[in-house]
Amino acid sequence: MKHIVILISGGGSNMLALLRAAQRDEWATRFGARVAAVIGNVPGALGLKRAAEAGVATAVVSHKAFADRESFDAALATEIDRHQPALVLLAGFMRILTPGFVARYEGRLLNIHPSLLPAFPGLNTHQRAIEAGCAAAGATVHRVTAELDHGPILGQAVVPVLSGDTADQLAARVLSQEHVLYPRVVADLLSKM
Ligand code: GRF
Repeated sequence: MKHIVILISGGGSNMLALLRAAQRDEWATRFGARVAAVIGNVPGALGLKRAAEAGVATAVVSHKAFADRESFDAALATEIDRHQPALVLLAGFMRILTPGFVARYEGRLLNIHPSLLPAFPGLNTHQRAIEAGCAAAGATVHRVTAELDHGPILGQAVVPVLSGDTADQLAARVLSQEHVLYPRVVADLLSKM
């Protein structure tokens, strides 16, 4: 069985979309794959509660308990490696990862970012897209490399920016498409593994 580990920091709606797709589309039967664990860096995050309710193993590695990025990433890797994952999916995981961590999971590490990369890496993507006058916005699933929000693009979803959109309205429109995009890209990868 190929194990998938999902890393989250917040509400975990992308994580839930992945869990639902895995069940609905029978990833276990079709791809021999299952979500083995959801790991968070924020104790008490809603997403961890939702994962536990869905019957998935959860763990917390709080970045606040560590003096630097290297020691946090080492502890996180120890927790991840317990599951021997074929894929590690960042889903709203709001930590910058060290080059050593990225190298350890090279070829197995994916992220979803709420912009049409290479436009708008980093934070506040929706506000920046509105201020730039973009007619379209969206989300990108990409392989993770040492440079933040870069790395080969595996899939994108595009939505319109409507006149008068607030950042929150645009974010909601993009997020609903993230929930379709991420499972689709992961299923496509699993079908080739
Ligand atoms: C998503 O917009 C994701 O692209 C970004 O953070 C948000 C996480 O939302 N990196 P959720 O925790 O999956 O609900």
